[in-house]
Amino acid sequence: MLGSLSLSFALLGLFASRSLCGGATQAGWKALNATVGGRLYVGVPFSQPCFSRTSSNAVNVPNPAQCGEIQALYEDHLFRSSRFGGYQITQWETCQTTGDECLLDWTNTSNPTAFASPRQCLQGSVPSYYIDVTGPKDIQAAYAFSKNTKFPLVIKNSGHDYIGRSAGPGTLALWIALNTAFVPEGCSAEPQSAVTFGAGVQFQAVYDFARANNVTIVGGADPAVGATGGWSMGAGHGALSPAMGLGVDRVLQYKIVTPDGKFRTANKCQNPDLFFALRGGGGGTFGVVLEGTFIASPAVTMQVVLGTYENTPENTVKLVKALGKSATQMASDGWGGYITPPASAGVWANPLLDAEAAPKSAAGVVSAFESVGGAVSFFTMPTPSDFFDTFIAPNTDPVGRPQVQSSRLISDYLVANDDVLSALAGAMVSSDFSQILAVTPYAFKDFDKDGTSINPAWRTAVWHALSMNLWNFNSTRSERETAYQRLKTVWTPVRDLTPGSGAYFNEADTYEPDYTTSFWGQLRKTARYKKQV
Ligand SMILES: Cc1cc2nc3c(=O)[nH]c(=O)nc-3n(C[C@H](O)[C@H](O)[C@H](O)COP(=O)(O)OP(=O)(O)OC[C@H]3O[C@@H](n4cnc5c(N)ncnc54)[C@H](O)[C@@H]3O)c2cc1C
Ligand SMILES: *[C@@H]1O[C@H](CO)[C@@H](O)[C@H](O)[C@H]1NC(C)=O
Ligand SMILES: *[C@@H]1O[C@H](CO)[C@@H](O)[C@H](O)[C@H]1NC(C)=O
Ligand SMILES: *[C@@H]1O[C@H](CO)[C@@H](O)[C@H](O)[C@H]1NC(C)=O
Ligand SMILES: *[C@@H]1O[C@H](CO)[C@@H](O)[C@H](O)[C@H]1NC(C)=O
Repeated sequence: MLGSLSLSFALLGLFASRSLCGGATQAGWKALNATVGGRLYVGVPFSQPCFSRTSSNAVNVPNPAQCGEIQALYEDHLFRSSRFGGYQITQWETCQTTGDECLLDWTNTSNPTAFASPRQCLQGSVPSYYIDVTGPKDIQAAYAFSKNTKFPLVIKNSGHDYIGRSAGPGTLALWIALNTAFVPEGCSAEPQSAVTFGAGVQFQAVYDFARANNVTIVGGADPAVGATGGWSMGAGHGALSPAMGLGVDRVLQYKIVTPDGKFRTANKCQNPDLFFALRGGGGGTFGVVLEGTFIASPAVTMQVVLGTYENTPENTVKLVKALGKSATQMASDGWGGYITPPASAGVWANPLLDAEAAPKSAAGVVSAFESVGGAVSFFTMPTPSDFFDTFIAPNTDPVGRPQVQSSRLISDYLVANDDVLSALAGAMVSSDFSQILAVTPYAFKDFDKDGTSINPAWRTAVWHALSMNLWNFNSTRSERETAYQRLKTVWTPVRDLTPGSGAYFNEADTYEPDYTTSFWGQLRKTARYKKQV
């Protein structure tokens, strides 16, 4: 079954021009290629087929058919993730220090100014080589190669990382298997229903599988994000998380090759410390995960509330303040959702309530939207997958653009505080894109107390709020720096007013201050840490 695994494994492009560094010789690359069955490839920037020059001296023959497809599907999540050289957040295809890039104009992908000569397609941060991984042996070979040559390794799955930790898209698909009586290997636990995903499986496939098999699987809001990769290891939220937990709460077991070349099983009973580290320590940190097994819960119906309004700065500030009043009660009742001013909408879903209870529980949302002249409607969806297909997938956050972001987890006791809400709403309306994600595991009390390494602030937060700034292929270096700086200016007051909270590091500021505390909290003070020192 591992034969269908296609997680990409990348050799970091930053060092491309020094490809002989630390002893990676042509013969060495050739030997590596032979060891991995000829599945070592050169990493090509996503938009290269549109360009006629790759560097000041090199001619590139454009491929009009391939270029046409790239132009048409430039912002398509699944298409981007199917190409090794494609990143969803496109500054990570570029080198931000030197300005080397190979980007199209995302406002008009036909604009020749972006790709016609004298513009060049430069490698940027796209890795120079990658291995199309089919099993643990490939990963062992890559770790050994990297150890011998000092050539750095990067693990890339769907290429969704906002802070640039991956470097090229994984190819699609693999396997998903339901086991109605799963017991983690080496444990004597009660058998339960669980689903195993090979690395590389993306959420659209997960939701289709859940519906077809009449089970509920917690996943994210993007059809192309990987289910076992960065999502689950970084926390992993979705609309079901308030009621049913985060990815780290739902995972029962990982299979992983660690950098010492060992293929290990990590669960509560085998390698428990590694399992703890993987449940919040982040993708790519501890090895290459080949598969993850997650709880599959019984099927549920979803009650949905959708609010719409006219997105003006004044309305958005008023709406955010009004929604703050009922945010904790909504989270306690198990609602999960997204407030997205650029889409002029907010949508929440609930697997715990019935159609009669839902409008009573969401009365605060109704009055908040009414206070800005908006409208609210209620729906019942037969499954979470139908909710995803109808309300989420058609409106996922944009990709194919350089986007920098900042975010903050907002705790229950702070969400109704006027100063916090003013700072937060101010940050949102001063950014190019903003969103409040009501996806924290607030009503899910059955979590493994010392079993995950995420910031404990996740457990008391009711909102994960974020904003982003954008740029384009032709923006100047100082405009790019300003995009980062503007975030810092507007998010500093939010951080200052929420001491002891934190940020979701999968969706965080690349320059997050005191990031260890922000991403993992005061881990030192936990019982688990004390036990070990
Ligand atoms: C448009 C968009 C929507 C998003 N929506 C959500 C959402 O609803 N909920 C949510 O929680 N997050 C969301 N995210 C954030 C997402 O969870 C992170 O970007 C996550 O890191 C993506 O993981 P990936 O494996 O798909 O992507 P990649 O960028 O390929 O990888 C991310 C990180 O994980 C590592 N990694 C990937 N696969 C493996 C593996 N098999 N073994 C070891 N390390 C691995 C990589 O090295 C990298 O460090 C969204 C991001 C985007 C761009
Ligand atoms: C690896 O070997 C295969 C099969 O011989 C070949 O097609 C491919 O180009 C080689 N990769 C590199 C980077 O040379
Ligand atoms: C996009 O650019 C092309 C080429 O310059 C131009 O012909 C076309 O009108 C532009 N489209 C839009 C919507 O601006
Ligand atoms: C789906 O699962 C639910 C909850 O377990 C159950 O009530 C229902 O009968 C199942 N439907 C089918 C078609 O099996
Ligand atoms: C960048 O390109 C866009 C789209 O073609 C154009 O509107 C804008 O003026 C350009 N900006 C600069 C700084 O050249």
